[in-house]
Amino acid sequence: MRGVFITFEGVEGSGKSTQAERLALHLNQLGIDCLLSREPGGTEIGEQIRKILLDPGNSTMDAHTELFLYLASRNQHVRGKVLPALSQDKVVVLDRFAASSVAYQGGGRGLGEKLVSRLNKLATAGLRPDLTILVDVPVAVGKKRKEQLELDRLERERVEFHERVRNSYLQMAHRAPKRIKLLDGTKPAEALEVEIRELAEEFLRRKGILRR
Ligand code: TMP
Repeated sequence: MRGVFITFEGVEGSGKSTQAERLALHLNQLGIDCLLSREPGGTEIGEQIRKILLDPGNSTMDAHTELFLYLASRNQHVRGKVLPALSQDKVVVLDRFAASSVAYQGGGRGLGEKLVSRLNKLATAGLRPDLTILVDVPVAVGKKRKEQLELDRLERERVEFHERVRNSYLQMAHRAPKRIKLLDGTKPAEALEVEIRELAEEFLRRKGILRR
């Protein structure tokens, strides 16, 4: 497997989806074969699972049911799309991956990070990101950015839930500072874009994928 696997993580309203898109576009412009995808979703089956997960009408969903659905979407995505792309030497950029389940279901829902990590291993076939960009913003800042929008089931959760998610992310970054890069999402999007670009390019140079 010679591809490179980059993931974006963060709380609601962090701006990570915009940044993932901009990085993928930039890498493609540099002539790098780059695949952008997201979780939950990324495959036909995964996108159907996404609808169930985010539907505000599914307010009675049990926390374990929720975890299994995220894992089901991930399993389909990894085996059907991510691993094949990596084996074709592509750079894969994902908007959310396994760390989201650790933070949201493990931390936010309180199912425990150990349990979620064990199940993640099954759903990911042991695949881990080479580089994770954690775009961090205070919960209140992210919430404010979503103010005018219709909120999905997860976004409707209480502030304390999202605080637990953020803390879980910050702990992960603290434990693995080499692999998880913690960036300040309150910066203007353009400044953040440049920072992420530089991080990714340096990483790809070290891997011999970028020459200059
Ligand atoms: P998105 O809005 O960033 O696309 O993500 C959809 C929602 O799903 C978001 O609220 C985070 C949540 N989520 C989890 O709770 N667990 C997971 O494993 C993933 C991938 C997302």
